[in-house]
Amino acid sequence: MRKIVFFLIQLYVLIFISACDTNQKKNKIPSYFPQDKNQFFDSVRAEEIILGSMLFFDKRLSIDSSVSCSSCHDPKIAFTDGKIVSDGLPSHKSLRNSSTLLNVRFNPTFMFDERAYNIDMVSLIPLLDTNEMGMNWHRLDTLFKQDSTLTKLSYKAYQQPCDIRSITRSLGAFMKSLHFNKSKFDDFTISNNTIIFSAQEIKGKDLFFGKGNCNSCHTAPLFTNHKHYNIGSEKNGSKDLGRMVGTLRKEDMFKFKTPTLRNIEITKPYFHNGKAATLENALDFHLSKDRKTTDFDPPILTTAERQNLISFLKCLTDGNYILTK
Ligand code: HEC
Ligand code: HEC
Repeated sequence: MRKIVFFLIQLYVLIFISACDTNQKKNKIPSYFPQDKNQFFDSVRAEEIILGSMLFFDKRLSIDSSVSCSSCHDPKIAFTDGKIVSDGLPSHKSLRNSSTLLNVRFNPTFMFDERAYNIDMVSLIPLLDTNEMGMNWHRLDTLFKQDSTLTKLSYKAYQQPCDIRSITRSLGAFMKSLHFNKSKFDDFTISNNTIIFSAQEIKGKDLFFGKGNCNSCHTAPLFTNHKHYNIGSEKNGSKDLGRMVGTLRKEDMFKFKTPTLRNIEITKPYFHNGKAATLENALDFHLSKDRKTTDFDPPILTTAERQNLISFLKCLTDGNYILTK
């Protein structure tokens, strides 16, 4: 039975990799994306991505073999899980809402509170988290050394058995391969032709870059400036202290990373605590005048203007997105 399940996982991963591979080939980083890290990403080899994608879907990476990375980062919903906060090991919950991994390669820091910097190491956080995968260093280091398929792949990628280093590095390589940039907004950026948009979408775009001032934090083309702000999403007394968890600085209390708005139509519910179920709820919450802080002064927008903004936000969905079609 276990062998059949493993075979099915392998089959799924192979289909996934070939979709990914085709996507990558026709999907070079466009000139309007940040170029500074290209060399670093270009050095990622196919062998590493293959091993990383096998591991990404493998539930044996959790203490009771019940959770894989893909349990909370499901490729069908832009590598999120649709939950308010993620379910982890049985009768456990993560502390926050799952983040998309699409285009995560461009992030200078990781997690809502900036508690990780290195994409080749960041996987250790969920792997060791007692709510999420509950593993320990020893088990991770020895887990796959006897697995002939993974050993073979690890030798191909790193000339060594499949240990904790090949696990974290290959998962990093897999995440670097998740680069997607085929939305209506990208078509517009390339052609500079507003005919691509409906009248309502154009109004939304003008609000986004103009009166709404959204672009100052959700900056195109990644729709984040990677900075952290207190937008009033947590109040005094809340347990989640935001960036202060990572930096221990009092002035960082309740600051959270600005999430990308690419694929926002798919990645509900919203905010680090999953508080908003729909995009309408998200904007009503974000723009309520009670949310005013020293970091953020919500612009006053009518219901019609918010609807226009939402139709523009839907232009950030990747039309080419794998496995959603
Ligand atoms: C039980 C659910 C769960 C599992 C399993 C899980 N994650 Fe996550 N992941 C989350 C949540 C929730 C967040 C947001 C946490 C935060 O910011 O504090 C997150 C955030 C991340 C981020 C940061 C994204 C960003 O933009 O900052 C990366 C990278 C990541 N996960 C990769 C992985 C990898 C690789 C695995 C498997 C080794 C994995 N995750 C397993 C729930 C999970
Ligand atoms: C001062 C910076 C700032 C400005 C300006 C700003 N945002 Fe945000 N936005 C954030 C931060 C930070 C979060 C995440 C907060 C959290 O999770 O608690 C966020 C979250 C969101 C979310 C939910 C994203 C998700 O994946 O959970 C949406 C949608 C959003 N913003 C849209 C907008 C729109 C539209 C505008 C313009 C009207 C705007 N924002 C202006 C900083 C900003």
